Amino acid sequence: MAKFDPTKRDSFGTKFGVIAAAAGSAVGLGNIWRFPYVAGENGGGAFILIYLLFIIAIGIPVMLSEFTIGRRAKRNAFGSFKRLAPNTYWYLIGLLGVVAAFVILSFYSTVAGWTLEYIYLSFSNAFAEKTPDQLTTMFETFKAGTFRPILWQLFFMVLTAWIVIAGVKKGIEKYAKILMPILLLLIIVLDIRAITLPGASEGLDFLFRPDFSKLNTNSILEALGQAFFSLSIGMGTLITYGSYINKKQNLTSTAINVTAADTIIAILAGVAIFPAVFAFGIEPNAGPDLIFRTLPNIFQQMPGGYFFSLIFFILLGVAALTSSISVLEVVVAYFVEELGMLRKRATIVAAVSITALGILSTMSWGVMDDVRIFDFNIFELLDFTASSVFLPIGGVFIVVFLGWHLGKRNIKEEITSDGLYKAKLINLFVFIIKFLAPIAIAMVFLHGIGLLKF
Ligand code: TRP
Repeated sequence: MAKFDPTKRDSFGTKFGVIAAAAGSAVGLGNIWRFPYVAGENGGGAFILIYLLFIIAIGIPVMLSEFTIGRRAKRNAFGSFKRLAPNTYWYLIGLLGVVAAFVILSFYSTVAGWTLEYIYLSFSNAFAEKTPDQLTTMFETFKAGTFRPILWQLFFMVLTAWIVIAGVKKGIEKYAKILMPILLLLIIVLDIRAITLPGASEGLDFLFRPDFSKLNTNSILEALGQAFFSLSIGMGTLITYGSYINKKQNLTSTAINVTAADTIIAILAGVAIFPAVFAFGIEPNAGPDLIFRTLPNIFQQMPGGYFFSLIFFILLGVAALTSSISVLEVVVAYFVEELGMLRKRATIVAAVSITALGILSTMSWGVMDDVRIFDFNIFELLDFTASSVFLPIGGVFIVVFLGWHLGKRNIKEEITSDGLYKAKLINLFVFIIKFLAPIAIAMVFLHGIGLLKF
């Protein structure tokens, strides 16, 4: 096996490339599928305000922490901890990240596969003249099948692996630079359609007029969890991407730009979806099925619905792809740098084994539905373990590592790029990562596993 040579490490080329790649990771199913339904279930506007607060107070600091650790060490998530804290157990956090990446991509590719089926269905005009019940049955039958969902999942994983094999600059960065502007364009088209629908204002009111009576402590914690998933933090994805950022780039402004892009796309997704939901008399709290069951219904009643449906699901697929490559890269970078594999082989081994687990998660909606662990099917178990257990644990230890182990002097050197940039808010940042963020994240975690009830 070829030994990894640190002097030949790949990296991102341009400032726009860094932002496109990291925003590509952040913007995904979490923004367009998860954010609207979670906001919908939690009453809309008031939830969004709390979400924004968490994004600013905790999301940006955690993201900046990941970039800082990655660029300081210039290694994969596991190797970064080994390098910055040799002869300690901190590398376990990196290992947890690699495992989490494995698990997240396995079920993420299931939903991404559904998205591809819905691109195909939109294209073949399959929603036309169907009743809401028929559309629901259509989704349920598809999801419970074996051949089709697995086929789409395989197809999606091949696409993901194909981009990752090409490398950081010539794969991830190149495609992110093309796909992210397309994504922005598509969502703006959808937004224009949505806000010109008769009755759109009710949807916009729902999103932007906060009604605090609809909030409970549960929604506050849900908002924090959503912030984590949406920003791709807590798992070492952004440690890995940070390790490809060169020293001339400003980490603070990168973290702020990426967070802003992620947040804006989430809001734009809400604006694309809720006016239509209200205009066609659908309940905003339809839950995780909101997109696959209700949107086709909306599209087929809407003028121009054929095209808007196609655009919507392509948008979702593109967003999922630029996120999935970032998750696969975590595992690939680990295989290449720690196990000395060649990139191509590492990507194939990672993608094949993730897909094997992913097939189980896809089949858990159909033939394997009776395999239950704590009442969860395999998909739900993988989702819960990764999102509600691994991410928060990872998040706490990432900020604690930076704040308490690396310390202020190292942090300052790294985020100022050795004095090239100013770091006016460094004391606030250090305070947040030492105290505020770990405590807040720990609360989400304890709530997620049911140890803390409000
Ligand atoms: N943030 C992506 C989304 O919104 C998903 C994702 C990519 C992710 N990398 C991650 C989530 C790392 C958690 C951790 O769909």
